[in-house]
Amino acid sequence: MTHIFPIIAKSKVASTPIYWFTKENFPAWKRKQPKILQKWITDNGFNAKPESYMLVPNKDGSLCSIIAGVETPLNIWSIAFLPTKIPAGIYHLESSFDKEEATNLALGWSLATYEFTRYKNSDKKFPELVAPKNCDVPLTKSFFEAICWARDLINTPANDMNPAALANEAVNWAKSAQAKAGVIRGEELLKANYPMIYAVGKAANVSPRLVDIRFPLKNAPKITLVGKGVTFDSGGLDIKSAGGMKIMKKDMGGAANVLALAKVILDTKLPVQLRILLPIVENAVSGNAMRPLDIVPTRKGINVEIGNTDAEGRLILCDALFEADSETPDLIIDCATLTGAARVALGTEIPAFFTADNKLANKLSEISENEHDPLWRLPLWKAYRSQLDTPNADLSNDPDSSFAGAITAALFLQEFVSKTKSWIHVDMMAWNLQNKAGRPQGGEAMAIRALYKLIKENYVGTR
Ligand code: BES
Ligand code: ZN
Ligand code: ZN
Repeated sequence: MTHIFPIIAKSKVASTPIYWFTKENFPAWKRKQPKILQKWITDNGFNAKPESYMLVPNKDGSLCSIIAGVETPLNIWSIAFLPTKIPAGIYHLESSFDKEEATNLALGWSLATYEFTRYKNSDKKFPELVAPKNCDVPLTKSFFEAICWARDLINTPANDMNPAALANEAVNWAKSAQAKAGVIRGEELLKANYPMIYAVGKAANVSPRLVDIRFPLKNAPKITLVGKGVTFDSGGLDIKSAGGMKIMKKDMGGAANVLALAKVILDTKLPVQLRILLPIVENAVSGNAMRPLDIVPTRKGINVEIGNTDAEGRLILCDALFEADSETPDLIIDCATLTGAARVALGTEIPAFFTADNKLANKLSEISENEHDPLWRLPLWKAYRSQLDTPNADLSNDPDSSFAGAITAALFLQEFVSKTKSWIHVDMMAWNLQNKAGRPQGGEAMAIRALYKLIKENYVGTR
């Protein structure tokens, strides 16, 4: 699907100004306006409350300007409510911004124009914005394209976004970016010693696979990204309820986010050696499906008892993470729609992250706040590890208690990452339950702006 980038580097034609105010500074500005405009504002009831706006006409009835209410400090979503509301046309922001503000405002604007059009045409014309001065237009465009891609991948239903289709998306992108891309598929997974990925995905009509993409670069820090790619999570034999299953086409949101992050890293030529591992499966029900209490070996060699077939994300990730760890990169990041428990703890909008590296955690928290890309740390609380014990095997995928489910899932993954200095696990929703400024209901990229900045600030130039 193509998405038109609505940011114009320089406009050749006149553009309509957008003036923005806070509730606090608006009254003083209003008092200085001509009486006729003051009356128009009052009669419209406009008082610059956040996410409100008003069209200001010229005497001849044409559009003169837009005035909008925002909250300060400005963030990526401050003016993102406008593009779906104001008439099509070309606009500019009537003030100056630093590089970060300008880039974020333009990105928020552009993301507000996203529509999922694969199955339903839209003739909506969105307003365009002249890039504010200091805006990093290439970076904005890269994030726009990457996030639209992630949203499209997630929104595409599982009948079309099956394991083959998702793997193809990844490989086609990798090849277009001159990367080395390999796919291990179906029973080849057993030969290549990825028994868990096979066990989870074997029940589906479209076979499971592991996508492995590399961008080699000498003398650069090694970063490996791992993404959960469950194209549909029915729950397997421990089948989900109808309500719980309904949005499970988004269970490949981790993989989609990893691809989006990787795309921006590539587009902007961050000097890192990138590896991307995507275990991709459908968690289906069939006679061939894994059963509760089946015991399956892992790539690591330890045996896992499958207490619950719906805890499949940690199973496919454990083989991919063990492979990632075998090369001891400088950093491993995995992204996954892993647990409902993370959503109970933090809600749908704040991904949980886990890492044993305190310094890195503090840095990520700080960046996340500055970038307005929320992430909240939860602990890898060792005392809960015993909840994964079982008398029958080395590890269970189904903790004894449902309390702290996001933490016990992270502790399960931690069993497979032992050599690499820093590992960050992100448990995210990858989905907007409701429309919000710049963020339409449906598939969503989460945490990738913060992770990009973390990689840029903490890793680039360290080798
Ligand atoms: N994909 C789900 C987790 C999920 C559910 C993410 C809802 C976002 C929203 C995952 O595979 C799952 O079903 N996890 C179980 C684990 C449990 C059986 C130990 C869960 O969280 O209930
Ligand atoms: Zn599940
Ligand atoms: Zn799942």
